[in-house]
Amino acid sequence: MTAFGSPRRHFRATDSTNDRARELAESGAAGGTVVTAGSQSAGRGRHGRTWAAPPGKALLYSAILRPLDAGHALLPLAVPLAVCEAMESLAAVRCEVKWPNDVWVDERKLAGVLIEALPPDWAVIGIGVNVAIEPKEFPSKLRWPATSIGHGVTLDEARAAIDRALSEWVDSEPDRVIAAFGERDALDGRRLTWSGVEEEGSGVGAGVDARGNLLVVRDDGERVALGSGEVQLVLGA
Ligand code: BTN
Repeated sequence: MTAFGSPRRHFRATDSTNDRARELAESGAAGGTVVTAGSQSAGRGRHGRTWAAPPGKALLYSAILRPLDAGHALLPLAVPLAVCEAMESLAAVRCEVKWPNDVWVDERKLAGVLIEALPPDWAVIGIGVNVAIEPKEFPSKLRWPATSIGHGVTLDEARAAIDRALSEWVDSEPDRVIAAFGERDALDGRRLTWSGVEEEGSGVGAGVDARGNLLVVRDDGERVALGSGEVQLVLGA
């Protein structure tokens, strides 16, 4: 088991905590090392998007996992499950996961995950959690509405809770991850359309398979599996 949070490097400001953690990983830093920052000038999200947050109001967290082996195949699902548990331990909220790894509260995005890896050596688990961002402080042109944990939760409390929950979830058995994901699957039964390199279509979310792919029942009745690197989703009503 990896115990996350020690050592930790904190930057008042940096470009991206994932980049700092990656440098540390490349220079041999131990698994469990965590990088945090008060602000990022070039925070990154999935699919080449940017991740922006007002200074001091979001947890900007990147953790090194090493080595990265076959037992971590479901890491992209295990990490948001850890974030859900961590946040629910701090405030009276119920979190869901929008496949593959956005964390939602009341259909609003609370946290995002960006995992970057050089298998089998290391993975950097990047997590951004909106802790105390006021509604008017979110950018007006977000793809999906955002929310904060609120409830007076501090950045330190959020970080410590994520350290604990990640340590518990990162090496979890696949069956446990799949079962827990099913309990929090925000897309189950939800109408969605997708577009990818080779395929596009529309249908209804129907859980995940054993490899963590999203299962969708297409409008023609066929069940297909979508890989997270391949497709982008748009949600219907
Ligand atoms: C997403 O929702 O697209 C993923 C967002 C991940 C943002 C976090 S903030 C800490 C870490 N550093 C980054 O540059 N990105 C991740």
